[in-house]
Amino acid sequence: KIIPVIMAGGKGTRLWPLSRASAPKQFIQFTDDLSLFQKTLERISDSSHYEAPVVITNEDFRFLVAEQARELDIKLSGVLLEPTARNTAPAVAAAAAFVMKKFGDDAIIQVLASDHEIVSGESYQEAIDIAFKTAKADKLVTFGIMPTEPATGYGYIEVGKDLGDGAKAVKRFVEKPDADKAAAMLSAGGFLWNSGIFMFGAAQVLSEMQKYAPAVADAAAASVAKAQNDLDFVRLDAEAFGKATDISIDYAIMEKTANAAVVPSSFSWSDMGSWDAVWKLGKQDTDGNVALGNATVVNTRNSLVMSRTSHLAVQGLDGVAVIASEDAVYVGKLDESQSVGSLVKLLGSTK
Ligand code: GDD
Ligand code: MG
Repeated sequence: KIIPVIMAGGKGTRLWPLSRASAPKQFIQFTDDLSLFQKTLERISDSSHYEAPVVITNEDFRFLVAEQARELDIKLSGVLLEPTARNTAPAVAAAAAFVMKKFGDDAIIQVLASDHEIVSGESYQEAIDIAFKTAKADKLVTFGIMPTEPATGYGYIEVGKDLGDGAKAVKRFVEKPDADKAAAMLSAGGFLWNSGIFMFGAAQVLSEMQKYAPAVADAAAASVAKAQNDLDFVRLDAEAFGKATDISIDYAIMEKTANAAVVPSSFSWSDMGSWDAVWKLGKQDTDGNVALGNATVVNTRNSLVMSRTSHLAVQGLDGVAVIASEDAVYVGKLDESQSVGSLVKLLGSTK
């Protein structure tokens, strides 16, 4: 069976002011009554394919994780707690080390982001089955999504030779290219977006980590070896984990490894990264507006308007996001949604 590892320690600052330091985007409900984290849990709840998931998150979010899993009545194999956020490479390495200890040397893990909107029908399951097979043949498997625009927030995968069974070799992996490079890859063709879901042997990913990011591999292994258990919570050793470099798995391994494979996938997928993604996924009216919560739009086009609190009315605007939470309001152009993170940095703490 596959051991799911859910990464749920991101800050999600581009979705301010709904996504907050104390409850980032993966734990909040956007358009329906489950959070993105809960929808991720549901996606891997089929016990004929999956063991109970391992969640890796920040110490600060432990109760959100425990509570939201309990609401769905989903048992966890463990909740690894990072004393400080060090990005996804240390998170994956620590989870892989934990999984090897708990499930043995041959364990295959599926790493899932917790900020995705996915429709997990037949084509999703098919992609997972291909990936499982490919991962058993020692590959580091990614899921490739057909790109629709020169987005700069994703990794790009150049598809290489056929590996059989529906998987392809990865010729090149380019994480978050600038706009020119993204446009060039899109027009060249033969590239897929990295979905941010991975499948590999826990041992395989650790050995690649040891090769390309040894400081991360060592720090993660030591933090697990010296971890403190507290019921389901596994507190990674702070001193050891603190020695890991702050780097994502994409830069640390996927851009470097010669062992990557991609399963070209056609399931419906979206990274809920920024307000324009929420707008694109939302139910647009005939003027292209998405109005959520306590919001009214008049003579307005192509906009996202959302209020969790007082009545919000917007008139005569085009292409904007207006987002009101209990204690803060954001107004900006939808096509500047990628930069909300820098704005939040200027604001300082967003608790
Ligand atoms: N435990 C833990 N610790 N989780 C983290 C941390 C951390 O320090 N940082 C991020 N995460 C979690 C986030 O909560 C999210 O679920 C997942 O890891 C991915 O992190 P993002 O920060 O959302 O990454 P990204 O969207 O910029 O880029 C990744 O995903 C894209 C697709 O969504 C990359 O893999 C890209 O290549 C990919 O295209
Ligand atoms: Mg993301």
